[in-house]
Amino acid sequence: MKQDPAKKAAGEKAAEYIKSGMTIGLGTGSTAYYTILRIGELVRGGMQLRAVATSAQSTQLAMEQQIPIISFDQVEKIDLDIDGADEADEQLQLIKGGGGALLREKIIAAAATEMLVVMDASKLVKRLGKFPLPVEIVPFGWELTFRKLMALGAAPVLRKKENDVFITDNGNYILDCHYGEIAAPVALHAQLNSIPGVVDNGLFLHYATRLIIGYEDGTVRSLSR
Ligand code: A5P
Repeated sequence: MKQDPAKKAAGEKAAEYIKSGMTIGLGTGSTAYYTILRIGELVRGGMQLRAVATSAQSTQLAMEQQIPIISFDQVEKIDLDIDGADEADEQLQLIKGGGGALLREKIIAAAATEMLVVMDASKLVKRLGKFPLPVEIVPFGWELTFRKLMALGAAPVLRKKENDVFITDNGNYILDCHYGEIAAPVALHAQLNSIPGVVDNGLFLHYATRLIIGYEDGTVRSLSR
């Protein structure tokens, strides 16, 4: 994979917040990738950590890095979740799910005491919505859910992978919804999740406690609540 200095700087910086004994949530995507590699180094250097992962892809990477992955029945609490984002604003509200892992990512973010978001500076926006909002839906009757979203002005597009429908780790579909700008994210979140067939959507409004923003020159900036 081609190195990305901004993502690498942010991803590696986040690992500095990890303390021995913690249970860590491992995010998904090309920025969290650098965090997972750094955590692997910490573990192999002797740091005692346990982790849960937000996708099959991150579980696989963590295992290659010898990071102990525990099952959810062993999880009492998650101290620190470190994950990427597709967009973030200065109120620390996020759009996630570009990689399709939003549901597992949200379950873990909701269980974590703190959530660090690792991202390059291009993802910081004044208002969320330019990035299409991923909405995870169940396959049963998906056409009806699609039409419902269409009627609500979401301009949904069924996500494809090459010529096939994209399937999430949970066996669901994703509709990418084009709003342009999301003026009222709290209301939109509630509206979307009240539609039968919608499992969850990629708005993460109250989870992030800190953004770690990486720049091309390898510097980072941090924004926190
Ligand atoms: C995965 O579903 C997403 O929520 C990712 O966290 C998000 O797409 C960020 O990925 P990158 O760091 O690869 O941009």
